[in-house]
Amino acid sequence: MKFKTIFEPFKIKSVEPITMSTESERLEYLEQADYNPFRLNSKDVLIDFLTDSGTSAMSSKQWASLMDGDEAYAGSKSWIKMEKEIKDLTGFEHILPTHQGRAGERILYGYLGGKGKIFISNTHFDTTRANIEYSGAEAIDIPIPESAEPMLSHPFKGNMDTDKLKELLKNHSSEEIGGVILTVTNNSGGGQPVSMKNAIEVSNLCKKFNVKFFLDCCRIAENSYFIKTREPGYRRMSYRNIAREMFSLADGCVMSAKKDGLVNMGGFLALKDKDLSDACTNLLIITEGFVTYGGLSGRDMEAISLGLREVFDEDYLKYRIRSTEYLGEMLYRMGIPLIWPIGGHAVYIDAKSFYQHIPVDQYPGQALVCELYIKGGIRSVEIGSVMFGKYDEDGDLIPAPNELVRLAIPRRVYTQSHIEYVIEVFKLLLEERDSVKGFEITEESEFLRHFTAKFRRVS
Ligand code: F0G
Repeated sequence: MKFKTIFEPFKIKSVEPITMSTESERLEYLEQADYNPFRLNSKDVLIDFLTDSGTSAMSSKQWASLMDGDEAYAGSKSWIKMEKEIKDLTGFEHILPTHQGRAGERILYGYLGGKGKIFISNTHFDTTRANIEYSGAEAIDIPIPESAEPMLSHPFKGNMDTDKLKELLKNHSSEEIGGVILTVTNNSGGGQPVSMKNAIEVSNLCKKFNVKFFLDCCRIAENSYFIKTREPGYRRMSYRNIAREMFSLADGCVMSAKKDGLVNMGGFLALKDKDLSDACTNLLIITEGFVTYGGLSGRDMEAISLGLREVFDEDYLKYRIRSTEYLGEMLYRMGIPLIWPIGGHAVYIDAKSFYQHIPVDQYPGQALVCELYIKGGIRSVEIGSVMFGKYDEDGDLIPAPNELVRLAIPRRVYTQSHIEYVIEVFKLLLEERDSVKGFEITEESEFLRHFTAKFRRVS
């Protein structure tokens, strides 16, 4: 007998209470936060879908391992364990620990970047782009054209456009190219997967044109799930071996272990080339720490070693992807416009289509983020013109291509009834959608304004 229900493949041993609140209390909290959920206290949030980064629940084995953390400055046995685990997974010879993903990005892309260089990606994540641009180099995104259509179905909507890649490689010398980066899964493109076929094509082109190919692999286990279930030829291969095959195509990777490492803090760089690794090691020591801890405690390294194993567990991955997909499917059936198919770690709502009466310069995404919080205590993040909008010379908004709201689901944290509750909140939002008003920005910083901006409701 095959049962339909896939339940959480874990029992709960330790619980963290959620502080309940009423709609009028939340309205007050949000007013105090100037209608920016980044400014809310997390204790005032019922369901926190702000990010899946660093918010995972660790397993009992990971918690137990913390006591084994070896806090030695040099040669910690926790490091030796972590290094061995990462070498086994990635096949790369040189492993550098970092305190999180962006530290690895700054080291690697800072070293390979600089004025006159370009980096090419399916889509650079914000911090990747910021580190590349900060070095003086240019970051070019070339996702496949299908990724621009939110509702268009495609099994690997995170793929890179290899025709455009070929053009770019032909038109630049190999010295001009800092690197080609595949982000798996493609977070900024809706958490969409990249196929092995696409990774092979990218790898072959990079070899042909003698440029370095890196993976931004922070969600590679989730990506492996999609390859196994959607790409011909991979059904019988283990998730871990699928990831290994993808690593074997690249010259190195940058990982934020805060995602598929199933830990609250940590990351690493893994590289094939010794000279590149030596250069990065020098930079690591200047800002992150000694080569055998790189900004991490011994106990963090213990938890990462185990997390990188646990994340490839079949039952875990099936539950993880199915849970995200279930939320997305239910919202889709209710007529909520969203990015389709549903990605691995998050559901992305198309707020421009949802609140068609709110013009983009009144930030429909921010309106949805605020409604989700006021009505349901759900915290999400706007990925639209608040985050990426710019102004022209007259001070008018140049909007972002899409007005999205991301519901990013922390790993192993929420249960099915939390998800059912979120679906119910959306039902209420649907009923009330025509009465919702947009926002204007009253205060903002010049750089990464979404974190601190203040808003006022348009009357
Ligand atoms: N690359 C990708 C694809 C990411 O999603 C992130 C972080 C990073 C790199 C940077 O890693 O945070 O450890 O420095 N994404 C988080 C998010 C912040 O909410 O999507 P980090």
